[in-house]
Amino acid sequence: MIGKCLFPVAGYGTRFLPATKSMPKEMLPVVNKPLVQYGVEEAIEAGMSTIGFVTGRGKRAIADYFDISYELEHQIAGSDKEASLEGIRRLLDRGVFTMVRQREMKGLGHAILTGEPLLGNEPFGVVLSDDLCLNEGPGVLTQMAELFRQFRCSIVAIQEVPMESVSNYGVIAGEPLKNGLYRVEDMVEKPAPQDAPSNLAIIGRYILTPDIFDIIRETPPGKNDEVQLTDTLLTQAERGCVLAYKFEGRRFDCGSVSGYIEAVNFVYENVYL
Ligand code: UTP
Repeated sequence: MIGKCLFPVAGYGTRFLPATKSMPKEMLPVVNKPLVQYGVEEAIEAGMSTIGFVTGRGKRAIADYFDISYELEHQIAGSDKEASLEGIRRLLDRGVFTMVRQREMKGLGHAILTGEPLLGNEPFGVVLSDDLCLNEGPGVLTQMAELFRQFRCSIVAIQEVPMESVSNYGVIAGEPLKNGLYRVEDMVEKPAPQDAPSNLAIIGRYILTPDIFDIIRETPPGKNDEVQLTDTLLTQAERGCVLAYKFEGRRFDCGSVSGYIEAVNFVYENVYL
């Protein structure tokens, strides 16, 4: 039912400098696959086979990755090295990959609005690929797509975090509906612990209904002079309904060096070996 997924990948990834000076942080390898591939696999598993990247300058490696590499493939054809490209080849066959450029970094809300021409008037998924989500059962987006079928409104993925780290996240307050599901009543972007309405932090998986675009257009820039998605989602919650879902699975904050190292170790020991 939800066929498209947006990947905002235009950010500078300053926490990984100098590595990200000339390469996208989404291409950092988690063992032998780039971070962004895990997110794309999750989206395609959820049935979202049209993948839209909101890119920026210096992100060409992502476009090249989701294409064939003619010279390389010709060079290793027939050798045992060919097997290492099987996963990405299969993924390429299952998806359609489109790109649009965000010319100025004006925040996540603005990045999503930049993706509007790729999405049209349909509900869509959003993946922030620096959040790596792994689950033995259905992936997080698959879990959220199932909820969307029942509730037909925007859904954000949430996770309980220690109170002292709430200031790194958008934080919600909500009315519990059933196991792990809340109807959002309040949302604050990067609150100080004493101002946070809870320790339920929004992580990088969303399903959004297309009325979000008009709300983004009418939302003035907030914190850091950026159009914050959190502000637009709060408006959507006040006018109708936004759900927050405590997903099943593990999430690694690969936007930070420590979270990235934790993910690499986990994947090496539990997935790769
Ligand atoms: P972050 O806040 O993690 O920023 O953006 P960043 O630039 O990627 O990383 P740091 O903090 O400098 O290390 C959250 C997500 O939103 C995207 C980013 O690419 C990332 O996936 N984003 C953010 C955009 O696409 N455009 C923007 O204007 C801002």
